[in-house]
Amino acid sequence: MNQQQTWSQRFESALHPAIARFNASINFDIELIEYDITGSIAHAKMLGHTGIVTPEEAVQLATGLEQIRQEYRQGKFTPGIDAEDVHFAVERRLTEIVGDVGKKLHTARSRNDQVGTDIRLYLRDQIYQIRQAIREFQGVLLDLAETNIQTLIPGYTHLQRAQPVSLAHHLMAYFQMAQRDWERLGDVYQRVNISPLGSGALAGTTFPIDRHYTAKILQFEKIYANSMDAVSDRDFAIEFLASASIIMVHLSRLSEEVILWSSQEFSFVKLKDSCATGSSIMPQKKNPDVPELVRGKTGRVCGHLQALLVLMKGLPLAYNKDLQEDKEAIFDSVHTVKACLEAMTILLREGLEFSTPRLSAAVAEDFSNATDVADYLAARGVPFREAYNLVGKVVKTCIAAGKLLKDLSLEEWKALHPAFEQDIYQAIAPQQVVAARNSYGGTGFEQVSQAVTAARQLLIAEHTSPTTATSSN
Ligand code: ARG
Repeated sequence: MNQQQTWSQRFESALHPAIARFNASINFDIELIEYDITGSIAHAKMLGHTGIVTPEEAVQLATGLEQIRQEYRQGKFTPGIDAEDVHFAVERRLTEIVGDVGKKLHTARSRNDQVGTDIRLYLRDQIYQIRQAIREFQGVLLDLAETNIQTLIPGYTHLQRAQPVSLAHHLMAYFQMAQRDWERLGDVYQRVNISPLGSGALAGTTFPIDRHYTAKILQFEKIYANSMDAVSDRDFAIEFLASASIIMVHLSRLSEEVILWSSQEFSFVKLKDSCATGSSIMPQKKNPDVPELVRGKTGRVCGHLQALLVLMKGLPLAYNKDLQEDKEAIFDSVHTVKACLEAMTILLREGLEFSTPRLSAAVAEDFSNATDVADYLAARGVPFREAYNLVGKVVKTCIAAGKLLKDLSLEEWKALHPAFEQDIYQAIAPQQVVAARNSYGGTGFEQVSQAVTAARQLLIAEHTSPTTATSSN
């Protein structure tokens, strides 16, 4: 227990226990331990390579570090608060294992460039995993879309019935959002994948280090050009949190729709028992807890983004301890995004059953084909605004008479405008209303089929050429 702090020689008295707890990050930055070890091994190898330590010493350091990794994996290494943070914990344990040579590990390095390296290695891995999870999510969206091209669902604007759409088209909108999420993370990855290692505390080092050497071992694409920027930059983390927030916003929007759709009022989907929960008091209830939690957790991730932006805004160069606060924001966002992507993927794969009869009835019982009546006239030479006004009046009369457009007789249509013919009935039938929107990117079945095929090809192409996926180590 009560071991001395690494820096205690400089101090007259020990740290107040409450302050030690306040200062420590070991409780959460232990999550970085394997990346810390990997970074330290690269540093040790570089020290050997440049002759700063002997080749034998470098091997001893690397071997000792690998042993710590094993101990950690076996649950035998559980450093306490007295270690302060994961970096001190590993260094201290290393010295216990390899003796005094362990004290050479930190030559030409600071915890400032060390922690920056650790977070970047961590985020690289996590970005890779989150992108995989996005692909899974896209996969189930696509499976659902493929089997529902001909299924119609009311399309809304202002949450008012607007025009019917193919259910596949609706689902593919989320596929496209997820595609941007996937691409955005790939873009962020480029800024994560830059090595700060060798920047020292802030100013570089007096030792003849080789930063390219460590960067190469750690498979960093580039190295930071400025040591002060390197140790204090968290732009990449902000970008990551922004991307994570956007992913969550997308999942939250879909969640909101599932929640609405599963309500008695909509009744567009039924929740299957494997993904729904009951109430403690109302025996009839089946609650959409999964999408509700996803919607709720979106607040945390967006909050973490905000926290990190505010954290950074007043920081003078270079490292400041405030930066220790970046970790929980990053870790929690990573955990939350992964958990939500997984839950939503399961929900879509096996937790929902679309009530097709209810959907067909929904699109047949409203005025969401009114635009098509206006388009019908416009296509026959009536200026659109004139046609629009005429249909507005027809809708008003129909509502007063308790009728739908399809209930008007041909005589009634003709009395409204001589251009109406028998084919008006065909033009306003829901399947035709959807099929007719065959403009690129529209809900016409032809367009939707093409979009679905293109999406399937995108996913297949990636499976057959792994290089398109950004891989980590
Ligand atoms: N635990 C610290 C952090 O997470 C490590 C870096 C500490 N550096 C320092 N100069 N105190 O930021």
